[in-house]
Amino acid sequence: NKRIAILISGGGSNMVSLAESMVGDHPARPVLVLSNDTEAGGLAKASAMGIATAAIDHKPFGDDRAGFEALLKTELENADADLICLAGFMRILTAEFISRWEGRMLNIHPSLLPKYKGLNTHARALRAGDKMAGCSVHEVTAALDDGPILGQAQVPILPGDTADTLAARVLPMEHRLYPAVLRRFAAGDRTPVYLKS
Ligand code: GAR
Repeated sequence: NKRIAILISGGGSNMVSLAESMVGDHPARPVLVLSNDTEAGGLAKASAMGIATAAIDHKPFGDDRAGFEALLKTELENADADLICLAGFMRILTAEFISRWEGRMLNIHPSLLPKYKGLNTHARALRAGDKMAGCSVHEVTAALDDGPILGQAQVPILPGDTADTLAARVLPMEHRLYPAVLRRFAAGDRTPVYLKS
């Protein structure tokens, strides 16, 4: 059984869907939910689910990403984590940290990668006049929102969509996609998962 640390920065709805999926014969279980924001709503949700939580405020570290990551490393070691799932974790990690977790760290990103790496993905898809939007789960490599794609889910873009209405259509697909990918990945299967709404 793989021990999963889930890193969040906000409400943690993807964290909840991952944690709820790790039951029964699932090849993984959640051992830690960690946030860089001490106020993240997801921390209370994780506690309520009986999962250990930790918060490391990044702000006192300023530009010292390595200093922040030293504490992160300690928490991950204390939890004896095997895999990391980034789930709405809004801090950029250093190449050095990422290399230590190579092949053992996943991320979910709200676009059909390789389109729209970075922020404001839905607004950018709308502005480009795209017909489809969606989300991707990928292995984390040193380049931002890059790395081998392990799954994608598509939704249509509809007339009158705003970034908010589109996000509300994509998020439920994130909640299906990430658990589906993690189940395979934790069992050693990197075959991509493709979903449509
Ligand atoms: C999700 O839509 C996730 O794809 C996105 O943040 C949201 C977190 O929601 N992640 C990124 O933008 C990563 N750069 P959640 O806290 O409810 O899971």
